[in-house]
Amino acid sequence: MKVLVTGGCGYIGSHTVVDLLNEDYEVVIVDNLSNSKIEVIDKIKKITGKEVTFYQYDLCDKEKVEIVFARENPDAVIHFAGLKAVGESVQKPLLYYENNLISTLNLLEIMQKYKARKFVFSSSATVYGKPASLPIDETFPLSPTNPYGTTKLMIENILADLYQSDNSFDITILRYFNPIGAHKSGLLGEDPNGIPNNLMPYIVKVATKELPVLNVFGNDYDTVDGTGVRDYIHVCDLSYGHVLALKNKRVGLKIYNLGTGMGTSVLELVNMFEKVNNIKIDRQFVARREGDIDACYASNAKAKEELNFECKYNLEDMCLDSYNYVKNNINQ
Ligand code: NAD
Ligand code: WQD
Repeated sequence: MKVLVTGGCGYIGSHTVVDLLNEDYEVVIVDNLSNSKIEVIDKIKKITGKEVTFYQYDLCDKEKVEIVFARENPDAVIHFAGLKAVGESVQKPLLYYENNLISTLNLLEIMQKYKARKFVFSSSATVYGKPASLPIDETFPLSPTNPYGTTKLMIENILADLYQSDNSFDITILRYFNPIGAHKSGLLGEDPNGIPNNLMPYIVKVATKELPVLNVFGNDYDTVDGTGVRDYIHVCDLSYGHVLALKNKRVGLKIYNLGTGMGTSVLELVNMFEKVNNIKIDRQFVARREGDIDACYASNAKAKEELNFECKYNLEDMCLDSYNYVKNNINQ
């Protein structure tokens, strides 16, 4: 089976490409490298010993998307490509709507033309907004609170309408919780440019002394220790969820949460990071970050039941692997 992976040079996409190659899928990557590096292709080859076909194209260019389909004729598409920074999406909403929506519309239109039917989409727990209760299951109401999240919900709605009009499509929507960690090889991981928005990349930059102190956003939430609780999932567990989605024999339009089902507070994560890496992370409490919620964690019962999804890695692995990746790549 030939799989087109959009955004395959990015954080989650690159780990998924490794899993796909390890399971003998043929892989074609399209990525414009707006948030990733070409070196990832060599690293994927180094880890797997296998080749991938790579196109440095922007999916917003429909002619380019068509060139890929005409040449490669993929059986399935896993669509990771997109912009993902919540704060930036508030500053530049039109960029987010344009990039995330046009790229997806182009892909779906060309898939329809070339009769590619299997589509796996990277959605996000952010579509749930502030949940009324926990854990969050797939039937919860959806109410994203920022333009980035709205692009995810809009795409979910587009997929539902498309499926309604043409039920030969086989669509899986995966709603990720908080991916962290990195590949055990230390070759693939997440290392954002500039000051990170997300917790684990920030902790790692304090560990490497690129940043002086972790700002903990709020200590008066209604949680175990007053700090925000999230469902952190190892990127390698998350990536394998995509292989399971391709293998899933159910056809139709399916939606799954991909999380561990376990909530971890900011302090619990920082303390675990300190313990397993034997390093001190200076932290200070600051005001809550606007738009943040107290707690968010998944019910992953549906993914377990229907995809045989399971999490093999724990919080210790996540902390070890995140730091290991950045230590290995610090001067690159
Ligand atoms: P990433 O930024 O590392 O990867 C996305 C890749 O898409 C990048 O390599 C980028 O260059 C590419 N890209 C962006 N726009 C493109 C375009 N128009 N044409 C071609 N390539 C383009 O992000 P990630 O963390 O790997 O996330 C992958 C997907 O998962 C995204 O859709 C993101 O919204 C979603 N998601 C991520 C998280 C998270 O916390 N990382 C959580 C939930 C959902
Ligand atoms: C986690 C916890 C913060 C940074 C975001 C997106 C979401 C999804 C995953 C894409 C919160 C606290 C953070 C810091 C802190 N991405 N924190 N100091 O906000 O749950 O989710 O990434 O779909 O859409 O919103 O993740 O890592 O930013 O924050 O105290 O410097 O860490 O307040 O409690 P979040 P995060």
